[in-house]
Amino acid sequence: MSLEQAKQVAAYRAVDEFVTNNCIFGVGSGSTVVYAVQRLAERVETENLKVTCIPTSFQAKQLIVKFNLTLGELDTSPELDVTIDGADEVDAGMTLIKGGGGCLLQEKIVASCSKKLVVIADYTKDSKKLGDSYKKGIPIEVVPMAYVPIKNKIVAMFGGEIKLRSAVAKAGPVVTDNGNFILDWIFKNQDLDWDKVNTAVKIIPGVVETGLFVNMCHKAFFGQPEGVVIER
Ligand code: 5RP
Repeated sequence: MSLEQAKQVAAYRAVDEFVTNNCIFGVGSGSTVVYAVQRLAERVETENLKVTCIPTSFQAKQLIVKFNLTLGELDTSPELDVTIDGADEVDAGMTLIKGGGGCLLQEKIVASCSKKLVVIADYTKDSKKLGDSYKKGIPIEVVPMAYVPIKNKIVAMFGGEIKLRSAVAKAGPVVTDNGNFILDWIFKNQDLDWDKVNTAVKIIPGVVETGLFVNMCHKAFFGQPEGVVIER
């Protein structure tokens, strides 16, 4: 079974377990979420479900429109029943690294408005400690003018190294849906207290959000190479 099939089985399982009629549903971002939206569209069609979809990115919004689902927004639906989203890594304590696709700010906002955040992923994202499998570091969304001082402050506090994200080598920086830059922090110490790190980084002026999701994830589904799904 391919990695894509592993993503698909996890996504289908999560949508079947968590999406109910009349629910307000947060649509995460990334390649695994595409399968969740595909399954949701099938269920809306065959079961005549009414589901309002709140996007976590421009990509998610386009997906909702493409599959003819009902597009909502936080202004009119500020309380969601469930958000289903991907992750770059999930540790044994259910702390997540998110933001590989640069959508962490809206993903965290929508997750924070949801009764449940459910993660869907292939088996490579299931780790004991953050950094075991995901080597690109923790994404941090920052106001462009402050990226150098923020970088220096984080390295001074916690070590490691930080790269300003660019789409292609030697090209300009990636700009998020919110007009900000992304720093990728390659941490060296895997035994940090991620809750404290998240709080310490977030209070640096100019930091908009971190890709550390601590105590937010209700359940994770990991598609396995043999086609089964492990739930945690
Ligand atoms: C985007 C994200 C994604 O959910 C994360 O990068 C996982 O993506 P994929 O499902 O493509 O592996 O956080 O900001």
